[in-house]
Amino acid sequence: MKYFLDSAKIDEIREAYDTFGIDGVTTNPNHIMNSGKPFLTVLSELSDFAAEKGLTGWDKFPISVEINPHLDNADEMVAMGCKIAAMCPNFVIKIPCTQAGIAAARRLEQKGVRTNLTLVFSASQALIAAKNKSLFVSPFIGWKESSGEECSAYIQDIVDIYKNYGFYGETQIICAAVRTGKQFVDCAVSGADIVTAGLQVFKDSFYHPFTDYGLGKFCAAWDKTVTE
Ligand code: E4P
Repeated sequence: MKYFLDSAKIDEIREAYDTFGIDGVTTNPNHIMNSGKPFLTVLSELSDFAAEKGLTGWDKFPISVEINPHLDNADEMVAMGCKIAAMCPNFVIKIPCTQAGIAAARRLEQKGVRTNLTLVFSASQALIAAKNKSLFVSPFIGWKESSGEECSAYIQDIVDIYKNYGFYGETQIICAAVRTGKQFVDCAVSGADIVTAGLQVFKDSFYHPFTDYGLGKFCAAWDKTVTE
């Protein structure tokens, strides 16, 4: 399972890449706002990062960038998607799973611009992303679980449907808004292709108090042992 970092902050992306080799980045308008920088400045920093690491191209290090969320017709969505995609070969265009968004994603894929259908909350929404050949589909886990839904079956359904019809691996499933290590495990058990989460979520998922406890014991033993 691949790990994407859900962030538009270049220092976080750098830390995640250097620490655990993230496989890509997802951004959204919230992340761009939280970076405190202008939209185009962030895009240029993301593009420079991929080039610096020798990872040019969406197939090597995909970076999802969302179009203006106010757009509600397919023509404008396609125009903005083409404009963003032309800025960097790593950019994958993130489009909301509305009727206009579905049409725009279909047209962008036909033009060779790779897409990520986002704000997906049902398996039937995930199915249309695959039928239209989007590179990615982003079912949101954290938001659903925050409101009391259990998401293992939801992800499993998407994986099974994709396997039934030969979509598995063609449209890659990014489990999004992942909040806990337990959710990482659920996604991996289901066979999801990718998880995307914030840096702290990854850090928390690597932490276990017994590791620290064991390290304390081993340090004590080491200190009581004569070297030669
Ligand atoms: C996914 O691609 C989204 O960017 C993301 O997961 C949104 O959720 P969050 O910002 O609430 O984590």
